[in-house]
Amino acid sequence: MAEETEVSRLLEGRVAIVTGAGRGIGRAHALELARHGARVVVNDFGVSLAGEGTTETPAHEVVAEIEAMGGEAVVNGADVADFAAAEAMVRQAIDVYGGLDILVNNAGFVRDRMLVNTSEDEWDSVVRVHLKGHFAPLRHAGAYWRAEAKEGRQRAARVVNTSSGAGLQGSIGQATYSAAKAGIAGLTLVAAAEMGRYGVTVNAIAPVARTRMTEGAFDTSAMALPEDNSPIVAWLASEEAGDVTGRVVEIDGSVITVENGWSHGASHDNGVRWEAAQVGPALRELFAAGPAPEPVYGAS
Ligand SMILES: NC(=O)c1ccc[n+]([C@@H]2O[C@H](COP(=O)([O-])OP(=O)(O)OC[C@H]3O[C@@H](n4cnc5c(N)ncnc54)[C@H](O)[C@@H]3O)[C@@H](O)[C@H]2O)c1
Repeated sequence: MAEETEVSRLLEGRVAIVTGAGRGIGRAHALELARHGARVVVNDFGVSLAGEGTTETPAHEVVAEIEAMGGEAVVNGADVADFAAAEAMVRQAIDVYGGLDILVNNAGFVRDRMLVNTSEDEWDSVVRVHLKGHFAPLRHAGAYWRAEAKEGRQRAARVVNTSSGAGLQGSIGQATYSAAKAGIAGLTLVAAAEMGRYGVTVNAIAPVARTRMTEGAFDTSAMALPEDNSPIVAWLASEEAGDVTGRVVEIDGSVITVENGWSHGASHDNGVRWEAAQVGPALRELFAAGPAPEPVYGAS
């Protein structure tokens, strides 16, 4: 039994940051990465579901849980969308554990609202936490990995971003969140293409889990658990996954699905500039030639 446990540890000696790891899915990722031998920077800003400040310190509890199972972890309290704080978080991993191999961008919150009721502040806050909250740690970790590669110390670096079915298929009442999560899928593609030369893979998951985020919005009684998502993250973060990059994987309990993003569908070359009156029939023919778009979640 002891031997079996040893063989299955995929992340021995690796150093990881998991953002928003105090609760929900991020907490499950942090515990799973630690179980596989990674030393983990457990980041959490300790905010409410809507992103407001609280006095809670959930990251401390997760660090204690990891230590209790014999692992190594340290708390980071950064707001991931704060550019300087994100840089300090990357620096903390390097200072405390001597480097960084894995970045799991997961932190975020929702302020669900129909598009026409969305306030400017709701839009800005949700876009900020997800999009900038992915960009800032990725930007600083990427600069570190590029510097390491240039010094001849290339690391098998792995980034796992967090998109959502809302971002990929769309979700009624979540226009802002959907836009941010779609942006994360786009960011993943470009980061993967740019950073491969430094030994970095960049993928994204679209998780599903019963957490405080979904409990208020849906019937979650049959919903997957946070920890159902984390083995996929652990594998994507392993050295073994070096040939997988620029991919988005949906996880729903025991089902994993490859998400196919935008791709060129049917096209028609008119030979000369289109007359507006010609466009309708031509576009309708092209639409009919391909599959209909999947319905937006919640659309009747
Ligand atoms: N739960 C689902 O079914 C589901 C589905 C699709 C995508 N997601 C995504 O998965 C991720 C985790 O969601 P969850 O359901 O576990 O939510 P959650 O609210 O349980 O956990 C999110 C954590 O992120 C932290 N956080 C929020 N803003 C932060 C910031 N600026 N800096 C650092 N930490 C911050 C919160 O304090 C919280 O502990 C989110 O990106 C969410 O959008 C969740």
